[in-house]
Amino acid sequence: MSKLVDRYGRVAKKLRLSVTDRCNFRCNFCMPKEPVWIPRDEVLSFEELARVVKILASMGVSRVRLTGGEPLVRRGVEKLVKAIASIPGIEEITMTTNGFHLKSFANALAEAGLRGVTVSLHSLKPERFEEIVGVRGVFDKVVEGIAAARDVGLRVKINAVVVKGCNDDELFDFAELSRRTGITVKFIEFMPFDGERLWNIERVVRASEILEILSTRYQLYPKPREHGSTTRYYGFKDSQVGEIGLVSSISEPFCSDCDRVRVKADGKLVPCMFSRDEYDLKPLLRSGAPDEEISEFIKWAFSRKFRGVETLLKTGELPQHIRPMHTLGG
Ligand code: 5AD
Ligand code: SF4
Repeated sequence: MSKLVDRYGRVAKKLRLSVTDRCNFRCNFCMPKEPVWIPRDEVLSFEELARVVKILASMGVSRVRLTGGEPLVRRGVEKLVKAIASIPGIEEITMTTNGFHLKSFANALAEAGLRGVTVSLHSLKPERFEEIVGVRGVFDKVVEGIAAARDVGLRVKINAVVVKGCNDDELFDFAELSRRTGITVKFIEFMPFDGERLWNIERVVRASEILEILSTRYQLYPKPREHGSTTRYYGFKDSQVGEIGLVSSISEPFCSDCDRVRVKADGKLVPCMFSRDEYDLKPLLRSGAPDEEISEFIKWAFSRKFRGVETLLKTGELPQHIRPMHTLGG
């Protein structure tokens, strides 16, 4: 097996697969006011997506996270989960979801082989949450989705994008939720991928600030960082239950051991989310090219992976808007 490796020696092990760019929510840090959707005939079929995963698995990718847009608005996505779960070499499939449809799908997803879900819950205040996601009356559904996922034995984490002046007064409430339920809460730094391009460094709450704030109330201890992880996990010294994750994509992006590769719903391979570079697999997939030809193309594309934003940030420069988040799914 020849691995997927770039010119800086970074090896791809994890795939983020966006199964649709569509979403039933309109989060203000993600969607443009007037989203431009990928035309339906350009969205890869489940067969095409599973084939891409199979080819990547043959090159050493072993973990797959399904993202969107919102993966659960794509009808039959549990069938894709099942297909991916049966691919040799795939050890784990997880999903990032807004949770709205989770109650209906949790059981089918678990049975199909999904291991865990990360549910985006940016506020514990219903009104504020609904303001952020741009849809009324959805908070309870998301909370019920989280409960349903736990009931069927899925590993559940929460993603909260922290935006200064919006929800940064809720850090303790999230921490308490984690200590009460054992659900890991990941705080994500606001990234410049909002559809309306209103991102501003002033609105970023750095992971280090979040840690400082939480440390005024709790004794936190860092857990060992897993290779390639953008998240630093912390436990509570006084409690076995609960875990906080800090996703420092802006302040400390850990590009140097990045082990991710991304594929968009239209079959464009994206080696790095901070780069505009995309490599379209669709023409090969749809012209009857054999697996070998596709894997050669992927290898070539991945070898050109952008070095990352680590060095940029060290010189005080800021990353720019590249594409709205709903087209890539984080
Ligand atoms: N910055 C950081 N995280 C974002 N997400 C969406 N947009 C942004 C942004 N601009 C989150 C989603 C989801 C995860 C994939 O990324 O809410 O939890
Ligand atoms: Fe939808 Fe997720 Fe974007 Fe919110 S962040 S609009 S839930 S894709």
